[in-house]
Amino acid sequence: MLSQQDNELLCRVGPGTPGGAMMRRFWHPVCTSAQLPEPDCPPLRVRLLGEDYVAFRDSSGRVGLLEELCMHRGASLALGRVEEGGIRCLYHGWKFSATGAVMETPNHADPKYTARMKAPAFPVREEGGIVWAYVGPKELEPAFSRYAFMDVEPEHRVVLRINVSCNYLQLVEGGEDSSHVGVLHTNMARPGWKDNAFTRNPDVVNPAALASNDLEPALKIEDTAFGFHYVALRKTDTPRVQNARVVPFIVPYGRIIPAPAYQFTVLEVPADDTHTSTFLVIHGKEPVNEERIIELLGLNDPMYYNRKTCTFTASWTNSFGQDRAYMKESWTGLRGVEVEDAAIGLSQGPLYDRSREHLVPADQAVTRVRRVMLEAVRRAGEGGPLRALGLDLRGVSACDADLEEGSAWQDLLPSHRETPLA
Ligand code: FES
Ligand SMILES: [Fe+2]
Repeated sequence: MLSQQDNELLCRVGPGTPGGAMMRRFWHPVCTSAQLPEPDCPPLRVRLLGEDYVAFRDSSGRVGLLEELCMHRGASLALGRVEEGGIRCLYHGWKFSATGAVMETPNHADPKYTARMKAPAFPVREEGGIVWAYVGPKELEPAFSRYAFMDVEPEHRVVLRINVSCNYLQLVEGGEDSSHVGVLHTNMARPGWKDNAFTRNPDVVNPAALASNDLEPALKIEDTAFGFHYVALRKTDTPRVQNARVVPFIVPYGRIIPAPAYQFTVLEVPADDTHTSTFLVIHGKEPVNEERIIELLGLNDPMYYNRKTCTFTASWTNSFGQDRAYMKESWTGLRGVEVEDAAIGLSQGPLYDRSREHLVPADQAVTRVRRVMLEAVRRAGEGGPLRALGLDLRGVSACDADLEEGSAWQDLLPSHRETPLA
């Protein structure tokens, strides 16, 4: 349970809010590289932390991020022409470069005036198939944090974006909640559930393919320099051996989920208080098949996902596509991991009030998310150091492994200890 006041503190991320000030200290994904597929392609409207921007790829392939509304008289640059090294407003033809230089002001063609002006533009990096931007105070720009998925060949990585109409924290908490995996994702986690005969799902791509039938995992949690990590320990059929699933939480909204063959890095980026862009990166030692991932997530059905706009399209208007007749075979009557997660997040409403819930020990990682995030909001307000800020995150990962009695779960991912404190 969280007081309404703390709930607001964590969930509200717009300009002028304490949560928004904390969020603005970090670099954020703003779109996938694939959404700006080639030089001079159509620009993209971007909403991040309750503010609107336009992203575009100029003639040389460089990506720029500007405030959406033109500095002259406020027409949207997302309607503009992207040409000859910049983006040109349709209204009076002012033209801006990716760095915000004012290139032309045709209705006031005084070169001195043009040179004096600078459009509100933001630092941008393109890494790992994602366009990242920093929109916080200039003097506080942190080092750019690298993730392991940025170091693999593009064929070994799939990047997806899914826009979901609810507050980011609901989706973050779902991701840091091991005990839901064996229930919500029953069909994938525990095939044979109908006959009460557990067999491990042989699909090495599926992050919900649990090694154990135990629905009551014991959690152990430890704070780290990037946030925290926790282990969910489940009973196995072998005496003195438990199944250990270690998942990190990376401040302010990141996690990594293990599948047998791949790692799923998930970033729940707040577009505003009631909309989230989930960036999902799957990477591993083997090439990744994008169509297979989309199918696994349940996003190959247009009822659920618009691939052009990257939007999760199911809602209460179609009961999230739930098929009650199909529930004889499928626990949820839904299809796919992401469809199940997004439907649950949306079912909690646009911004869930946590003051009336009833937590149990299996929710400890969810509680820790809140504690670490409240600490981050407080520290940002005091100008103190923030976990994960500016860290090299390439050593952060997740695992699902056997753990013998007496061994330390932290030894499964020793690199987490080596990530230095900020
Ligand atoms: S409003 Fe953009 S050029 Fe006038
Ligand atoms: Fe899930």
